[in-house]
Amino acid sequence: MKRPLHVAIAGATGAVGVEMVKTLESRNFPVASLKLLASARSAGKKVKFRGEDVTVEELGEKSFEGVDVALFSAGAGVSKQYREAVVRSGAVMIDNSSAFRMEDGVPLVVPEVNPEDAKNHHGVIANPNCTTIIMLVAVAPLHRAFGLKRLVASTYQSASGAGAKGMNELLSQTKALLAAANGMDELAERYRDVLSRVDPPSAFADPIAFNVFPHIDVFGPNGYSKEEMKMVNETRKILHEPAMRVTCTSVRVPALRAHSESLNLEFSRKVTPEEVRKVLADAPDVILRDDPAAGVYPMPVDASGHGEVLVGRIRSDLSNPDGTGIEMFVSGDQLLKGAAFNAVQIAELL
Ligand code: A2P
Repeated sequence: MKRPLHVAIAGATGAVGVEMVKTLESRNFPVASLKLLASARSAGKKVKFRGEDVTVEELGEKSFEGVDVALFSAGAGVSKQYREAVVRSGAVMIDNSSAFRMEDGVPLVVPEVNPEDAKNHHGVIANPNCTTIIMLVAVAPLHRAFGLKRLVASTYQSASGAGAKGMNELLSQTKALLAAANGMDELAERYRDVLSRVDPPSAFADPIAFNVFPHIDVFGPNGYSKEEMKMVNETRKILHEPAMRVTCTSVRVPALRAHSESLNLEFSRKVTPEEVRKVLADAPDVILRDDPAAGVYPMPVDASGHGEVLVGRIRSDLSNPDGTGIEMFVSGDQLLKGAAFNAVQIAELL
């Protein structure tokens, strides 16, 4: 019989934190006590957990005394600031930020893919980048079965990737545009003009309503954004394939919640779509949505609110004459499988 754990959530009032509370409840996680931590702004707020009010406390150095597991989703700066305090108190930090993901000695874990890595922690386990988690839930079983040689990803990432602030920005810009413009032509003509009169974008560098932009996080000297490099480097670390050939273009789209990805996979042997479907039908936390003629394929609106990753549009890559290429499309709720759900699954491994 497993002992119930004393759990803390840092960033409990944020988009991911709220989902962490719900996931602990929906997965019936053995919680002995729950501490909800956020900034001073939120101290005193009440949040329901298993029908009872839990009062949000201000995060501080002493917050982790008596805590077994601390789930962090308050940004990389906060994670770095409190790492010592968590480890000193004897708790295990499961960190959703990018602060420690590539650090040696910090396991980077997707429970369906590399659960055994979680054992080798020194007080901190990192939750991978959301888009990387969603991709690997579908790709890792195929790599195991057929040997992946090269991976090309193009992402379609929703506003919720920038937290509650990102979703609010999408909604407020959409409302402003719809209220100001009469019809389609006017909307297009007056787009920049209308948006210049509402609050300037703060969650995103560009307007998100009725727009897409190939810019997530800052660009590096090689021309890739940090988000794109997370897909490359984290995939290699999680799969234990330091030389895996991975490339990615990350794009923000005006979906409210759940990320999607177009994936081109090249294997070391010939693979048919039927073989791919067979492997994915048995893969944990994968749901096949693959009957395009009947309108069945992955979409963010269907992935939203679910812990599983939807996979479909599975087909042979036409441009690859030797039959080693597969195209497919995935959608997953990045607040859940890409963050809260994955973090709670890691806690379950402990
Ligand atoms: P608060 O709501 O009090 O600002 P999101 O990803 O949706 O933006 O949420 C971020 C989460 O991290 C929120 O719970 C937020 O609390 C919390 N947070 C941000 N900065 C700090 C900080 N310096 N100390 C504690 N909590 C923080």
